[in-house]
Amino acid sequence: MRHFLNLADAGGDAVAAMIADALDRKAARTGWPKARPDADRPLSDHVLAMVFEKNSTRTRASFDIAIRQLGGVPMILDAGTTQLGRGETIADTARVLSRYADAIMIRTDDHAKAEELAEYASVPVINGLTDLSHPCQIVADLLTIVENGKALPGLELAWLGDGNNVLASLIEAAGLFGFNVRAGVPQGYEPDANFVAAARAKGVRIDIVRDAREAVAGADLVVTDTWVSMGQDHAHNKVAAMAPFQVDERLMAGAKDDAVFLHCLPAHRGEEVVDAVIDGAQSRVWDEAENRVHAQKSILLWALGKL
Ligand code: CP
Ligand code: NVA
Repeated sequence: MRHFLNLADAGGDAVAAMIADALDRKAARTGWPKARPDADRPLSDHVLAMVFEKNSTRTRASFDIAIRQLGGVPMILDAGTTQLGRGETIADTARVLSRYADAIMIRTDDHAKAEELAEYASVPVINGLTDLSHPCQIVADLLTIVENGKALPGLELAWLGDGNNVLASLIEAAGLFGFNVRAGVPQGYEPDANFVAAARAKGVRIDIVRDAREAVAGADLVVTDTWVSMGQDHAHNKVAAMAPFQVDERLMAGAKDDAVFLHCLPAHRGEEVVDAVIDGAQSRVWDEAENRVHAQKSILLWALGKL
């Protein structure tokens, strides 16, 4: 069973295959109407169930259009309006949804819930974000990086701000693809130690630094995310600790001249990033958001054994 709870579930070769397939499928439908299925309709007659225990714009909309473009059908379940929200167990939900759908995507808080869903489902389960990690986002990010002509091995990636779920999956990708991460994060907001150790064990550099300028020096990519993730308190002391890590034009100028700026979105303009950077010439955030569609298609194809 091909669950996709973290990038390592697929491994570097499969994620590389996802990126290649996404590039091919994206190129093949240039200029096409968005709802027209890909010519081969590889997932015709398939249903993707999506369970949301947290808000989403991109993940929800991109998986919806992705399964349609593959010839299949989306089924969206907001936890608040399902029996899951009234205490039906994850295990029973997994058993039932496996009878209706060919794959299940879940966005939830505790990563253990996604693992439990995978344990009891008889179809592939895809992590659409947990408090621990966000692997689907990173497939889209890697696709965006490659599209910008940057080879992944040896790349220098700077992260600024909170050591969150998105950074955890980026660090996992660094280990799989051989790139280095310098994360500028305040004391107490470091990324998950297991992801850091696993990447370092593969021989890449994962540096945790306390100075934003040091983090971006010589970077090929500058990446940030919200300082306050879903489910976290908008604590004044956290926002204050993050303030020196705001990505502004001066900080961006400390990276390489051809550095690219990425942000998974939603952005909190004026907090982790200023308008001049996110709307500036080095920003690729809208391509990154579009690439969620192309990435989800490859993830679904891999999970269903078609890649
Ligand atoms: N980047 C991302 O996952 O966005 P959503 O929260 O809108 O799905
Ligand atoms: N780190 C953010 C990502 C949102 C896509 C969160 O978990 O809220």
